[in-house]
Amino acid sequence: MTVNTSGVTSNLSRREFSALSAAAFLPPAAAAQTDAAEPLISGTIPGTGENLPAVGLGTASVFNNDDEQTRRAAAQVLKTLVGGGGRLIDTASSYGGAESVLGSVIATEALRDKVFLATKLEAPDAAELQRSLERLRMEKVDLLQLHNVTDPRQSLAQFKAWKAQGLCRYIGITSTYHGEFAALATVLGREKPDFVQVDYSLDNRKAQERILPLAAEVGAAVLTALPFGRGRLFRAVRGKQLPDWAQDFAASWAQFFLKYLLGDERVTAVIPGTSDAAHMADNLGAMRGYLPGAQERQRMVSFVSNL
Ligand SMILES: NC(=O)c1ccc[n+]([C@@H]2O[C@H](COP(=O)([O-])OP(=O)(O)OC[C@H]3O[C@@H](n4cnc5c(N)ncnc54)[C@H](OP(=O)(O)O)[C@@H]3O)[C@@H](O)[C@H]2O)c1
Repeated sequence: MTVNTSGVTSNLSRREFSALSAAAFLPPAAAAQTDAAEPLISGTIPGTGENLPAVGLGTASVFNNDDEQTRRAAAQVLKTLVGGGGRLIDTASSYGGAESVLGSVIATEALRDKVFLATKLEAPDAAELQRSLERLRMEKVDLLQLHNVTDPRQSLAQFKAWKAQGLCRYIGITSTYHGEFAALATVLGREKPDFVQVDYSLDNRKAQERILPLAAEVGAAVLTALPFGRGRLFRAVRGKQLPDWAQDFAASWAQFFLKYLLGDERVTAVIPGTSDAAHMADNLGAMRGYLPGAQERQRMVSFVSNL
């Protein structure tokens, strides 16, 4: 699909658009450049053609404590995600109390049918899966990922068996350790999972070398972990204004950083982590407007490289 806005053409052939209305959930700053009638940007899962709204939520370190205060904050973030047209939530068995917090909020707010829940296991261990399902209060998850692949011999046979049994709809693998990318690539090429999750941000583009081309080759959807480099990108631009040339497609630095990733056709969805509902709404703003094309993305890289 080709979208032409503001005189700039973006080739969005792997992206689909759905006419969900979300502007009511955006804070003024993020909503400023949006239009309720504007379509939302989504990615396509190659294996099935299912659409996934392109901005999701990461939960590493933000919902660690399973207590009342955290559950209240999580409820605000999840309601903002869903109300703003998002669905994807990424968590892990190793993220402290996050699975329990999410399970509680999703049940209390009756959100199960409105979210695409991805979790991760440290190993193909039935007891670990059962614990995750119990904490999440779910009979199945949407995506089950093997967390942090380290060995090229790691097998997804057990994950595939669980998928066949209906305990998950998709399977995936992850890594954010560049020293393990060779192992990740070997497992990706051999096991052909439905998803691969890898660190990718405007100032960290290692995934472009091998993992993203291979994901496209084997038909794996791509989730980008650490889209802000754990906040490193915000620290780099502290006190700086968005450049004029970016203001047509980004109303905030968060949207600038996320749109760089969404402008890469191989990326299915981004999963910025946040415990702040206003930040969630800001991030969701990256699902609106046009996406930067190749020339603009190069300009964004140069801009950040010269900070
Ligand atoms: N190996 C793996 O599989 C792996 C490894 C690492 C991460 N991950 C996944 O990737 C997700 C993302 O990574 P991450 O959460 O570590 O780092 P990140 O998304 O790169 O950055 C998160 C930081 O950005 C801030 N932030 C978020 N939205 C913002 C906004 N609109 N404006 C200003 N600040 C904003 C957050 O603070 P606030 O809370 O204040 O918003 C937080 O400090 C994780 O949550 C996890 O789900 C997977």
